[in-house]
Amino acid sequence: MKETIKKLNEKFKDTSLEELLEYFLKEYRGRIALSSSFGSEDQVLTDTICKLDKKAKIFTLDTGRLPQSTYDVMERTNLKYNTKIKVYFPKSSDVEKLYKKQGINGFYESIENRKECCYVRKIAPLKRALKGVDLWITGLRAQQSPTREDMYLCEWDEGNNLIKLNPLILWSEQEVWDYIKKNKVPYNALHDKGYPSIGCAPCSRAVKDGEDIRSGRWWWENPEHKECGLHKQ
Ligand code: ADX
Ligand code: SF4
Repeated sequence: MKETIKKLNEKFKDTSLEELLEYFLKEYRGRIALSSSFGSEDQVLTDTICKLDKKAKIFTLDTGRLPQSTYDVMERTNLKYNTKIKVYFPKSSDVEKLYKKQGINGFYESIENRKECCYVRKIAPLKRALKGVDLWITGLRAQQSPTREDMYLCEWDEGNNLIKLNPLILWSEQEVWDYIKKNKVPYNALHDKGYPSIGCAPCSRAVKDGEDIRSGRWWWENPEHKECGLHKQ
């Protein structure tokens, strides 16, 4: 598999976003999915995918703790592209157990609690969402954080046993916003209020100019811990 991935990275290193997605949507029809948190990068990918293949699977993980503005952009996205993005929720019995164990805001108390909350609310639903998927598209960018600098366009995801495609891996933040403005793509209103990266409401906050893009996520933790397990353990 390593060889296949290497070849794919070589083959597509200078390909445009549209051509890249067109190829993979065709090649993996019925076995391909985009995960979207409705952040700016995911909105670029949703726009491109909806223009190429209306039936391609796009899903979101609704943790139950998302900001209202995320639900607003979800609604606007469904309306604009005349679609209904799939939603995966955590299992209610798991959330009830989590509450019993660590309370309602237990994630602030320890990294262990925080990771357990992310597991119940995101990772377990992700595993359901990826059933039958052989190619998973994400909105990851290398410049988002030091934990993402070593990521590639195509990767083999050992944990999920599939190919992960990160079409925007080499894009800058400016390129993302240029695309959004040019194509009139709906975006989360929090981006205009100082939030470059948006996850759950209690775990995301605005950052100051010049601060690291992801410094507002789990801001009480050290930078090296700032992955929830969706992309790195
Ligand atoms: S996270 O791991 O820290 O939460 P981030 O918010 O930077 O990730 O998003 C990176 C990519 O992970 C997104 O482009 C998207 O593909 C996926 N992702 C993150 N959160 C969600 C979510 N709630 N639902 C679906 N996909 C998500
Ligand atoms: Fe829980 Fe925060 Fe992780 Fe959301 S980001 S799942 S609220 S710990």
